[in-house]
Amino acid sequence: MTKQALIALTALWTCGVLAGCPGEPVPDDDWETKTIEAADQPEGDVEAGRDYLLMGDYSRCGPPRRVHDEVLGLGRPEQLLPDRGEANAELPYNETASTIDGQDIVIGNCLTCHARVHDGEVVIGLGDINRDFTKDFAVLAQLMSFAAQGEEEEAVMDRWISRVLATAPFSRMRTIGVNPANNVAAVLFAHRDAETLAWSDEPLLEEPPLDPVPTDVPPWWGLYKKNMLYYVGSGIGDHAHHMSTASALCVDDVDVAADIYENFKDVRAYLSSLRAPAYPRPLDEDLVDQGRAIFEQTCARCHGTYGDDWTYPNYVVSLDTVGTDPLLAEWSGASEDHLDWFNRSYYGSGSTEMVPNLGYVAPPLDGIWLTAPYLHNGSVPRLDQVLNSEARPTYWARSFASEDYLLDVPGWQHEELETGHAEIQNWSDRAPIYDTTWPGYGNQGHTFGDHLTDEERSAVIEYLKTL
Ligand code: HEC
Ligand code: HEC
Repeated sequence: MTKQALIALTALWTCGVLAGCPGEPVPDDDWETKTIEAADQPEGDVEAGRDYLLMGDYSRCGPPRRVHDEVLGLGRPEQLLPDRGEANAELPYNETASTIDGQDIVIGNCLTCHARVHDGEVVIGLGDINRDFTKDFAVLAQLMSFAAQGEEEEAVMDRWISRVLATAPFSRMRTIGVNPANNVAAVLFAHRDAETLAWSDEPLLEEPPLDPVPTDVPPWWGLYKKNMLYYVGSGIGDHAHHMSTASALCVDDVDVAADIYENFKDVRAYLSSLRAPAYPRPLDEDLVDQGRAIFEQTCARCHGTYGDDWTYPNYVVSLDTVGTDPLLAEWSGASEDHLDWFNRSYYGSGSTEMVPNLGYVAPPLDGIWLTAPYLHNGSVPRLDQVLNSEARPTYWARSFASEDYLLDVPGWQHEELETGHAEIQNWSDRAPIYDTTWPGYGNQGHTFGDHLTDEERSAVIEYLKTL
């Protein structure tokens, strides 16, 4: 059997078993949802959190500043944030200058994945779904290493390179825009002693698969409602610990981790203070009212209600009910070693990693007009296609330029293609094409809008633009 035929068969099987086929919604009496209760969160200072996020030294290794500036250059005007102090003044928003052990370094910060320039402005908290993780980062890192001069620069460089070389093979995506962060985290856990956080060049746990399960990047402005983090709802308890693991590339002892955690109490407070930007165009108020009525009847049970008296149920919805691509949930559920590592480690004090219900969080839909592509793997380019599973393209290509974001639709302007990656040999020619037939990249399920008429869907979309 050819690989394509095997994938098609697997897709058919999944469709039948998980009731995620177009036009066959699971009756709402049978919906399997699990509510995640609120946990105590540490107090924190919003302003201090923003400063630490944008200027703090939570990334403990990186290329020397001189090498960075020589090889990568400085930021373009639209990438600069005005209030980040002298050392960062010329760096793009997603890079921070730090001094670690007396050495000046520059390293990518959280905004590498959690901000993007839209309409000429840096939008903090908006996932960067234009970033290209299809390249082999080891090559770029090696290139930079040749530019290091003298023993001190070489030592700083070597520390960073050793981590890049450990993670790069596990962070190569098939398509531009999807993100390998979960796989990178799994590699970093696998190379550390859970008790001491000491780094080991040899992995201590089994490493994750080389082919990462793809994900989108969720916006930060939904966090103020969420009792759990991550698409599968695995981040339970104190959120600040979970967030601080994203800085773990070179955090090799518990004292450093504890210091970072103290500051991440503030970062957590800052992230919870973020709200979605407002839709910038005029709306048809009658249509909005019609859409609200349909939404409250059809969608609110999972996604909550909006406005001053908002409600949010904090559901993790089972795979059987939502029917979207199962791989991320299944992989997370099967990663017992990694869940156990987190729970035994320093990060697990007050926080737990677990898969509370094999499935996905029904996310808050705040700012949904700006967060295409949709679903946890970014497999659906436009909002109307989320509401009509039969309209979703199997193979599609978009540009990665913010001018091609369609505000009215909303979603990404894209071209539907006849064939996917199977017909293309070259990895880089495949990269701009989203091929939903790869495992993990599927666009099935979430059929909750399929029974609506086109008019009803337009009304729901007009309403969704107000959130
Ligand atoms: C390489 C890209 C990348 C970087 C860098 C990164 N993140 Fe993330 N982040 C992601 C992805 C992808 C997810 C979604 C993972 C999932 O849910 O499976 C995520 C999820 C999150 C979430 C949970 C959001 C939600 O609604 O559940 C928080 C909070 C978060 N990141 C904070 C941070 C912080 C703080 C930093 C910096 C210390 C950071 N991230 C760095 C890619 C990244
Ligand atoms: C039974 C619960 C349930 C119902 C009912 C439901 N949804 Fe969802 N919705 C989910 C879950 C779970 C996800 C996440 C699925 C995934 O990412 O794989 C989701 C995802 C979405 C997304 C994509 C979010 C993103 O950030 O990519 C949108 C938009 C959405 N739903 C809108 C709606 C609308 C509109 C309705 C009503 C027509 C609706 N949903 C009904 C559970 C539900």
